[in-house]
Formats: sequence, structure tokens, C-alpha cells
Amino acid sequence: MRWKCWIVLLLFFILPLALAQLRPGFYSTSCRRAESIIFNAVLRRFSTDKTISAALLRMHFHDCFVTGCDASILIDSTEQNPSEKEAGPNLTVRGYELIDEIKRALEVECPSTVSCADIVTIATRDGVVLAGGPNYTIPTGRRDGLRSFVGDVDLPGPDLTIPEAFQPFRAKGLTLNDMVTLLGAHTVGIAHCSFFQDRLSGFQGTAAADPKMNRTLVTKLRSSCDAANSNNPDPTAFLDQNTNNLFDNKFYSEILSHRGVLQIDQELALDQSTVPLVSKFASNPIEFRQMFGNAMIKLGNLQVLVGNAGQIRKNCRAFNPVRPQQPIKPKPIGQGQQPKPKPKPKQGQKPKPKPKKQKPIKRGKKDKPINGGRKQNPKKF
Ligand code: HEM
Repeated sequence: MRWKCWIVLLLFFILPLALAQLRPGFYSTSCRRAESIIFNAVLRRFSTDKTISAALLRMHFHDCFVTGCDASILIDSTEQNPSEKEAGPNLTVRGYELIDEIKRALEVECPSTVSCADIVTIATRDGVVLAGGPNYTIPTGRRDGLRSFVGDVDLPGPDLTIPEAFQPFRAKGLTLNDMVTLLGAHTVGIAHCSFFQDRLSGFQGTAAADPKMNRTLVTKLRSSCDAANSNNPDPTAFLDQNTNNLFDNKFYSEILSHRGVLQIDQELALDQSTVPLVSKFASNPIEFRQMFGNAMIKLGNLQVLVGNAGQIRKNCRAFNPVRPQQPIKPKPIGQGQQPKPKPKPKQGQKPKPKPKKQKPIKRGKKDKPINGGRKQNPKKF
């Protein structure tokens, strides 16, 4: 009798859990060409737009840090549900149309098989490789989430101290070294002036610029940001002023020379807890590459949905439509049939309460305003 219990346990609980894990090559039989289709699409885009690697990296981070790597960032808003896309930090996230293009190709190749969450994860790795970064092995098998709500977005802002910025990383099981390593992604990409302009003059109530920023860089960034006009109200600057589209370790030597554009980047090179690793990465590109790959795998594993959880979206921008339930044909009354009387509750048993109607989601105090366009206060993440 005991062994029967063990078989039931194994079949219904242990086996599904063991199978429901991420693993490299998850699509090797169900969609053999999935990873090459993704790579070719990223390659095509990269050949005309080198900035796509940075766009994907940021999209992946913003997805995984909010309700896990479940493609919740890709959902378009509806009137009933303002999605994560509406949140301040996400207003400048780019690259959605590349994910759409890949999804369309994969739906033709093998419908309802490859999740949007895996597409973002694999495409990000491919973007890193094409920009000259490490080629790390991505475990796959993520599924797409069923929730995307603007009020869930609570990403760290660029003006935080290191201990403050570390809090959300620690809460997700990442270490301080992981944070220093992942911020190395700022070796590629851009920042809008609105994210660092306060460092250029009137810094923290003084009339001057941030004394921690190199003077020549202050002058250069001022002239870029002063060029703002109605066509380009919020100009941009490269996060790594040395090798901007190349994924290398130069970002770390830049911040050691006080040439960090974002305050958080500069803090990495000043805080006692992070400067040792910054110095190591600045002098050891191989170590940085290895640790970056490992940290990206950890990032990509955050709160993933596996097995039967979530769904495989057909369109990354929308949840799959809920199939209407088959209407039950009423049996004809008559011919000796009477509608069944409702069963009376037995003595001592309470009658079942009627199911409550679902309340519409209330937007909480914390929720960011919906402005659909530029961020109103980009400092507030
Ligand atoms: C404390 C953590 C972080 C903060 C405060 C932060 C903040 C920012 C800010 C303010 C920007 C400029 C966005 C814009 O102007 O549009 C930016 C850009 C970027 N971030 Fe981060 N970030 C953090 C962590 C990360 C991580 C972990 C990654 C990836 C692993 C990442 C990848 C990027 C990339 C690649 C860009 C450039 C995006 C582009 O060119 O469109 N960031 N980040």
C-alpha cells in the first residue's frame, strides 16, 4: 500500500516538478530552428542598428525585475488595464518591434510553442554576443505571464546610493557583485539628459555641477543637453563615453576616471563596497565577461513560470483570448421532465454563498500616472 502512495507522489507531484525546470535546448525537439530564427532576426537588425543590443538588455532587465522574466513588459495597455509599458522607467524602453517580428516568424514555424519570455532572453544574449560580449548558455522553457500592471513597476532610480540600489537586487536573491556586474551592461547604450541633467548644474542645491564628474565631461554633456529643441526635447548621451556600441570592460575604467554619466554608475567606482570589483573588472576583461554571463543567467532565472503555469502567447503584446465556454444546451422540459429543485442545505450546513463579482482593479496610490508619451518626472522610478 505504501509503495502505491510513493508512485502516486512520483507521478503527480515529483515528476512534473522535475520536468518543469528551465534547461538549455528546451526547444530542440519542439521547435528545432527556434534559436537560429531568433539569432538571424537579431543579426539582421544589428547590421543596420548597432544600438539594438542595448535596447534588448534594458528590456530584459526591466522585464525580469517586475514580476519575473515573464514578458509582462511586452503587454500593450488597454483601457481596463494600464500595463507596465506606461510606467515612467519603461517609457524609453525600445525594441518591441523586433520581438514582434521574431514572434511572427516563430508562430509560422511552430505555432504556440516558443514563449515571448524566452524570445526576449535569447535575443538579449544574441545582442550581447553581436556587440562583442560573452556567449553564455541560456536555459529555456519560460512561459508567459498573465499579469502586466503599471503599478507593479518599482525599478531602482539612477540617483540612488549603492546600498539603496542594492535593496531590490538583494530582495531577488542577487548579490552586490551581481549588481556591479550587471550594471556593466551600461557599457552600451544611451541615457536621456533628463536622467543626469541635475549633475551638470545646480547639483544637490549648490550652483555647481556634481564635483564627482570629470570637468571636461561636464562641459561636453552640457553642450549636448543644451541643444534640446522642440524636435528633440530630451537629447541623449552615451553611457560609456569611450566605446559606446562595443560590449567590453571599458565602462569600468571610465567610471574610475570620474566619467560615469549616470550618478549610480559613478557611485559604483566611489563606494567602498563596490570599488574593489570595479577595479578588478577594469583590469581584467576575461573575468568581467565570465561573471557577466553568469549574472545574466541568474537575472534570466528570476521568478520564471514553467510547466503549465502561465501561457505561450500568440502575440507578445496581448494575453491569449480566453476561449468562451461551450454553452450547455438546455434539455427540453416536458415529456415527464421537471426542472430539478435546488438541493436544500442539510441541517447545520450553511447554504453556499453566491460567487462574488470580480471587482475592477483599483489603481493604488503608488501607481504612476498614465501619460502615454514622455516621462513627466523621469527621476521618479
Ligand atoms: C540600479 C540599477 C540600474 C539603474 C538605476 C539603471 C538606470 C538606467 C537609466 C536611467 C538609463 C537611461 C535610460 C534612458 O535614458 O532611456 C539606463 C539605460 C540602460 N540600462 Fe540601466 N539601470 C540599472 C541596471 C541595469 C541593468 C541590470 C541592465 C542590464 C543588465 C541595464 C541595462 C541598460 C542599458 C543597456 C541601457 C541603455 C538603453 C538604451 O540604449 O536604450 N541597466 N539605465
